[in-house]
Amino acid sequence: MDATLEATIRDQLAFNRDRTAPPPDAVPVPPIPAARYRDPHLFDLEREHVWRRTWLFAAHESELREPGDYVTFGRSGAPLVVVRGQDGEIRAFYNSCRHRGAPVVRDACGTARRLTCQYHSWSYDLEGQLRAVPDARSFVDLEPAALGLVPVRCERWEGWVFVNEDPDAEGLVNFLGPLCEQMREVNGPSLRKLGTQTHHVAANWKAMVDAFLEVYHIRTVHPDNAALLYDDATVSVAMLANGHSRLTVGIKPEMLGIMDPSPAADNPSVGSLWRETSTSFGWFPNIVAPLDTGAFPLLCMWPLDHRTTELELQWFAPDWGDGDPPDEHTMRMTLFETVMAQDTANMAAIQRSVESRGARPFQIGWHERLIHHFHRAVDLAIGTEVPAELAVSDALDRFVERP
Ligand code: FES
Ligand SMILES: [Fe+2]
Repeated sequence: MDATLEATIRDQLAFNRDRTAPPPDAVPVPPIPAARYRDPHLFDLEREHVWRRTWLFAAHESELREPGDYVTFGRSGAPLVVVRGQDGEIRAFYNSCRHRGAPVVRDACGTARRLTCQYHSWSYDLEGQLRAVPDARSFVDLEPAALGLVPVRCERWEGWVFVNEDPDAEGLVNFLGPLCEQMREVNGPSLRKLGTQTHHVAANWKAMVDAFLEVYHIRTVHPDNAALLYDDATVSVAMLANGHSRLTVGIKPEMLGIMDPSPAADNPSVGSLWRETSTSFGWFPNIVAPLDTGAFPLLCMWPLDHRTTELELQWFAPDWGDGDPPDEHTMRMTLFETVMAQDTANMAAIQRSVESRGARPFQIGWHERLIHHFHRAVDLAIGTEVPAELAVSDALDRFVERP
């Protein structure tokens, strides 16, 4: 991490640890309308303007090591396939045959030499070109060169593969902005997918994202794990451009080193700040990445409908080579299930609250301002169509860190 930034974060950690009143530059955080979590129209707008037009994390390179390795991805709302070509490039296409629309791969992941539709066996190469049409004699003036799979934007940054259905979207690196530099030391290409845990949550996806953008709750929700480890006053938060964020919480001095992985399972590129804190990055719109020197999850919030969310924990760890992953990684995954059970326990009740007549705007604190920042970014992605009664204020825009 950049030395100046690290010094700033350390200063903020110490400042917040010791302060007895709001910081001098703090302002009241404008309320967040409760209807944002229940309104089906807002959900439709999000589907159109967020999920179909934003860079979405789709896979890690380690899932697509060889030519022909593919994963399917449906989170933007359309069926996509992400595949490594013979040339080593990773591309995305609509998983939709140009004959009559059937999928060209059916499994969630796999390896293929050709992408062959199971309806009438039209077959595409790994670069999406149509290569074989059974009974081609029955098609007049068939133009295979014009009947390739329809491409979707797909870009990689440090091993993380993203897709975006918007052909006019800005490039991925621009979109991620300062995350690229600030996360570089996790050395994404050296990581490997460890596994996935899935939870279904009976609440709007934004309520689940909110839960991972503050540490205010850890004393009450996680008294037996996170609260033992972290000092929730020793924090530093940053609102980054495009709705991204960074949240650092200090490990209690007496607990330093207790969660460190063994040398064999350690990520040697991670520096001291991350070893003395938990630093998580919010990747707008739906991912919170609590980076760590051993195994860590990407917390991915995928909406299923306006009141149901799939919380998917995709775990990564430094590549362990041949054989099974180290036990300490899988044990950490198991331990984390306890934390997730605690984090998800309130969600259904919160959803019932926001859907009740008693629902009032949420009054969040300055230390929770990343939540407001995230909601504001949703509104900015949607644009002028956000109904006025649902919109969040622009009052915190001036606190967004610009490079
Ligand atoms: S729909 Fe794919 S070959 Fe017919
Ligand atoms: Fe939590």
